[in-house]
Amino acid sequence: MEKLAIHGGTPVRSKPWVSKYMGSEELGVEEKARVLRVLKKKRIFRYLPSGLETSEASALEEEYKSFLGTNYALAVNSGTSALICALVAAGVGPGHEVIIPAYTWVATAAAAAVLGAVPILAEVDSSLTLDPADLEAKITSRTKAVVVVHMRGISAAMDEIMAVANKHDLMVIEDAAQANGGTYGGRRLGSIGHLGCFSLQQSKVIAAGEGGMVVTDSEEMWQRAVLYHDGAGYQFRFVERKIPAFPGQNYRLTELQAALSLGQLEKMPAILARTRENKRKLVERLKEQQKIELSPVFGTERDLGVSLIFYVENEEKARLTAQALTAEGIPAFQVYDSQANDQHIYVNWEFLMAKRDAWGGSFPWSLLEGDGVEYSKDSCPKTLGLLGRAVQIHLNHLVSDADLQDVEAAINKVAFHLL
Ligand SMILES: Cc1ncc(COP(=O)(O)O)c(C=O)c1O
Repeated sequence: MEKLAIHGGTPVRSKPWVSKYMGSEELGVEEKARVLRVLKKKRIFRYLPSGLETSEASALEEEYKSFLGTNYALAVNSGTSALICALVAAGVGPGHEVIIPAYTWVATAAAAAVLGAVPILAEVDSSLTLDPADLEAKITSRTKAVVVVHMRGISAAMDEIMAVANKHDLMVIEDAAQANGGTYGGRRLGSIGHLGCFSLQQSKVIAAGEGGMVVTDSEEMWQRAVLYHDGAGYQFRFVERKIPAFPGQNYRLTELQAALSLGQLEKMPAILARTRENKRKLVERLKEQQKIELSPVFGTERDLGVSLIFYVENEEKARLTAQALTAEGIPAFQVYDSQANDQHIYVNWEFLMAKRDAWGGSFPWSLLEGDGVEYSKDSCPKTLGLLGRAVQIHLNHLVSDADLQDVEAAINKVAFHLL
């Protein structure tokens, strides 16, 4: 076997690796035409007297409803605001506990905390998603909801999670920010729990720069989300009021972002067909490599194929493997690197570790004083152990068979020398 590139050998690949983006790589004439149409109409705010039906944001909501098969959808200005609205819609508030996975974007934790609910960390398993057994172990009399995150395009074990949630009467919110367009047992992600949330930020499957969506089958929950996303929601939206008024924010989506999203949504099936197929092929190629470990769900229906993550024996080997692969021309990183400040890992959610609010106090944890909710680096040792020995490579729909061959060659080369 050739010398490793980090030791002065020739790299497997000299061509740059593909971009880490997906839908935004495909922005083109279709989105341009849609955005220009909005500019020509001079209507960049969704609620104007010309009516809801002619609004791009309303059209986007209709598309999500028919794609997911849910009764209701609400376009919002980010995935974070989608989570906040969904939590409000689910009735989550001060004094409640919300169970979240220890591996997710910080927004999942912050969304609960800004509403006065205490985020409770639960372990993920080798699928990178919530471990249903640990979810059950973390339930207390204060638990109101669980936010299930379909992380890195991998769907969580929804059958097991719904069974636990039903048994304990919990609300289930699916955070599908990283898994737009995914399915589980033939059902669309976001449509399985009580509410589903999506993000349209640049690095997501489809993108509008910023943007988000909340979906649900419950009219009451939808009305609560609408009212929280827009303090004037009643004036603009409702035919028949189902809930008493409460103060809301402004998380409305602009017509420009909605138009962009509609263009992107048309492209999503083709993008995901490619990422899924690529991942299946890659998992097949790596099956024989005994020195790395893959979760059994990788490369299956539960995997959108937007990244490759594999496990090696220990943290040190993961760090070296990532460095060596990068030197071979395949950019890779250790998923939990204790030197990095990656906001996907619970130990880096500083406000949570310190139980600190925006005003220097300790709300909402102060509400539960004496009830022993504590956080430390050791809160989820299984998650940290797994992520410390995990190596990640970004994949997208632009990855070709030749690129897959390079990944396989680089992994085999690094495995031969280092693992
Ligand atoms: C799992 C997860 N949840 C929530 C969010 C928040 O989405 P946004 O950045 O659109 O607010 C993101 C992405 O940033 C995410 O990856």
